[in-house]
Amino acid sequence: MNKKLMAGWLILLSIILAIAGCSNADKTQEKPEASSSESAANGKVLVGVSMPTKSLQRWNQDGGYLKEHLEKKGYKVDLQFAENKVESQISQIENMITMGAKVLIIAPIDVNALVNVLDSAKAQDIKVISYDRLIMNTDAVDYYATFDNTIIGRMLGEYIVDQLGLKEGKGPYNFEIVSGPVNDTTAVLFNAAVDVVKPYIDEGKLVVRSGQTTMEQTATPNWEEKEAQARMDNILTAFYTDEHLDAVLCLNDSTSLGTQAALKSAGYGTADKPMPILTGQDADIANVKAIIAGEQSMSIFKDTSYLAGKVADMTDAIIKGSEVSVNDTENYHNGKRVVPSLLLESKFVDKNNYKQLLIDSGYYTEDELK
Ligand code: BGC
Repeated sequence: MNKKLMAGWLILLSIILAIAGCSNADKTQEKPEASSSESAANGKVLVGVSMPTKSLQRWNQDGGYLKEHLEKKGYKVDLQFAENKVESQISQIENMITMGAKVLIIAPIDVNALVNVLDSAKAQDIKVISYDRLIMNTDAVDYYATFDNTIIGRMLGEYIVDQLGLKEGKGPYNFEIVSGPVNDTTAVLFNAAVDVVKPYIDEGKLVVRSGQTTMEQTATPNWEEKEAQARMDNILTAFYTDEHLDAVLCLNDSTSLGTQAALKSAGYGTADKPMPILTGQDADIANVKAIIAGEQSMSIFKDTSYLAGKVADMTDAIIKGSEVSVNDTENYHNGKRVVPSLLLESKFVDKNNYKQLLIDSGYYTEDELK
């Protein structure tokens, strides 16, 4: 690279960094390191990014940020969304392999369904990062990167315990659980959240009138809003015509929206019949609006740009053969091997802190939440 060109690059890089620094001034976590000019010179190595669906805000953001961070480092990115269809995800990954991708970043739709396609990736020495959800039963997964789901599960459970004053001996309260699909890594979240509330269920301070307390009984296929709504409609009709539902542990924002729709059509949301304490996860725009309107109590803020930046750093390190940064090399066994993992922290967001966490940080603008 000649000197002028290099100087141009450096100026451009400092502008980009300055802008990123300003808009993210108060973010909760340290930002990923800037790409070096060396990585930009790396040429157009192809990285495949396979996301589950475009239908949730979460994956559009993750996909977009991954592309942005990787392209900044000089990589070519093939970003695909599979609309929650396992066969589409498999054929998209096959295509990435054929096109010569060096690294695959995959958020699986079904964690058990990628064994064969990843065997072919491994045979061609393509490295695989399991993104957000841990791909199971294959030794072809090289790394796992996610927000720590055990911590998230605990935060959800503890929020319910705190808001209901269960530690102070209050109750009994009526309580239901709305979980995610069984073919996701929901179990980690579910177990952590349920561990927190279970002593109160056992003690009779949380009463689950539906009797549905296992992950299978409370599951929501594909995290679909409509599925959660239909299940909650049934529960409300069958068990709550004469009872008030006081709290619902929803494991994410789409299921929380479905639950809210069912509650509202059963007359909740008035002074006489207030909405239950209701959790969520992802801090999606629709859900933050619901928090502001008092229809959802809290959500979990996962800074997806931060995760995507870290995964872009991991990808860069894999391709350059340098050390890949992880912080857990013991706890994530996928049935075939312990997968070296990078676990990030998240925060809970509610009406008291959303301005500081989401607006002041530049994650959303005030207008987006109107
Ligand atoms: C993610 C959640 C997301 C859910 C639905 C989970 O694997 O961890 O953040 O809400 O998938 O897409």
